[in-house]
Amino acid sequence: SASGTVPAAIPTPASAPTAVSKDVTILFGSQTGNSHGLAKKLAKKLQDQSFQVTLSSMSDFKTNLLKKVTNLLMVVSTHGEGEPPDNAISFYEFLHSKRAPQLEGTRYAVLSLGDTSYEFFCQTGKDFDKRLQELGAKPLTERVDCDVDFDEPAAAWMGSVLNALQSASASGASVSGGATAAAESTGESEYSRTNPFQAEILENLNLNGRGSDRETRHVEISLEGSGLQYEPGDSLGVYPENHPRLVEEIIQAMGYNADEQVTVKNGETRSLREALLRNFEITVLTKPLLEQLAKLSGNSDLQELVAAGNEHELKAYTTNRDLLDLVQDYPLTGVKVADFVAALRKMPARLYSISSSSKASPDEVHITVRAVRYEANGRNRYGVASVHLAERVQAGSTVPVYIQNNPNFKLPADGETPLIMIGPGTGVAPFRSFLAEREETGAEGKTWLFYGDQHFSTDFLYQIEWQRWLKDGVLTKLDVAFSRDTDQKVYVQHRMLENSRELYEWLEAGAAVYICGDEKKMAHDVHAALLTIIEKEGGKSKEEAAAYMAALQQQKRYQRDVY
Ligand code: 2AM
Repeated sequence: SASGTVPAAIPTPASAPTAVSKDVTILFGSQTGNSHGLAKKLAKKLQDQSFQVTLSSMSDFKTNLLKKVTNLLMVVSTHGEGEPPDNAISFYEFLHSKRAPQLEGTRYAVLSLGDTSYEFFCQTGKDFDKRLQELGAKPLTERVDCDVDFDEPAAAWMGSVLNALQSASASGASVSGGATAAAESTGESEYSRTNPFQAEILENLNLNGRGSDRETRHVEISLEGSGLQYEPGDSLGVYPENHPRLVEEIIQAMGYNADEQVTVKNGETRSLREALLRNFEITVLTKPLLEQLAKLSGNSDLQELVAAGNEHELKAYTTNRDLLDLVQDYPLTGVKVADFVAALRKMPARLYSISSSSKASPDEVHITVRAVRYEANGRNRYGVASVHLAERVQAGSTVPVYIQNNPNFKLPADGETPLIMIGPGTGVAPFRSFLAEREETGAEGKTWLFYGDQHFSTDFLYQIEWQRWLKDGVLTKLDVAFSRDTDQKVYVQHRMLENSRELYEWLEAGAAVYICGDEKKMAHDVHAALLTIIEKEGGKSKEEAAAYMAALQQQKRYQRDVY
């Protein structure tokens, strides 16, 4: 299975000198799958060097085994406002509690993933590092905090971990070189995040009716010839292009020549215009970027903004502003174009929950994308990828894509398991995939969808498909909440509470609960509604209800894909 233990290295032949037992435990805490992917890569590298590797998500790790771990490697991302990812929460709490064991006999290393545009950059990794030291564990190598472009720093960290482990075990018997790890998984595509597939758009439709405040694109993309495969719950990574007008205005404000050749991150050369369109991020202002530009320009106002103690002002300024605002508000005279682009972050891909099943739509992948447009700080602002997909690609265009596995959002292996799916707005995307998959596989478990958006008449995404599935029995129950059709707002959690008895019965019958969509408001309120339902219908105290939810999560019967 995706999150299980990696098979141990093949034992060395009896004639070879026996290596010292070299046990390494790798724990990952992953929300979108990046930490998990890196942890798997690390496991493979270590197995190739005949280490005995245990690879586990933090939530699956038996904490009573912790004090026996000699080498502990952690790969963990930070979520939201400095919080651990869902599958790291229980371990994080355990380690920070009085129950945590002393770890004098443990050596450890932490790789943390994060995003410098957030105030609490890599907070979870920093917390783990600090706590492990408090418990007496000794660092094998220094923690590395990665920004969104994590490949190089992660590879460097892995290199130093390997060195540290090897020099530590070199005093033992010689290591036989012949052991190879489990073979590279077969049939894997050559395309990945670092080598995306140029995929053709097959269809690009607006799902919203005329008069809606929303524009939600249903985009069908061909994967033919790519070898890319996915399962329900996975995401599609899409590399977007910046808005051409924004690019022109930045070039103009800086007084650069758009045709001048510049070097992009992989060392290739192209025009400044092309580079700013495709290779660099120009819509997010991070602290390292501002520091760099302050230094290059010598602009004292900008230096002041990034100075220690001004975090509050910095956050206020960087929110809803982009590189054009910056170069207009802080004249950056004398910055050479090569230095300017070198200061920018590489364009990160955007992840979209896949809304198709490859069994129902072979060689295709569908995504459901809401165009993000709003006004702030005196200008119209556009979501980079969503507006690119809405305005500048059509059938026949190509976009660079890859598949991001999401082991934290997977259908139960047993098709009999009832599903409770909560997905207002574009959060409904993975549930279209789930139901299409269940239809194709003939799974017989009951299914219940909670959906909501602003208006029934214009915003009921995929209405005809849900109705067909209801008729065919693939979907057992559908409850909808249209928030702006009535005087009083109704949301999905209100529909859940109205159905409290039946929902609890489904839980007791073994249902798995899935939540997809807005994190801060919706997912938080839905969580609270679930607790209320468990308290009320199960006759439980607050603590008992929380324990019930924690058990659901442990059994992978409470999974979230929230953003
Ligand atoms: P609103 O914008 O009318 O308040 C999908 O975006 C739907 O989610 C919309 O109907 C939106 O309603 C709704 N929504 C907003 N806040 C929510 C919350 N706290 N809980 C559940 N749904 C919410």
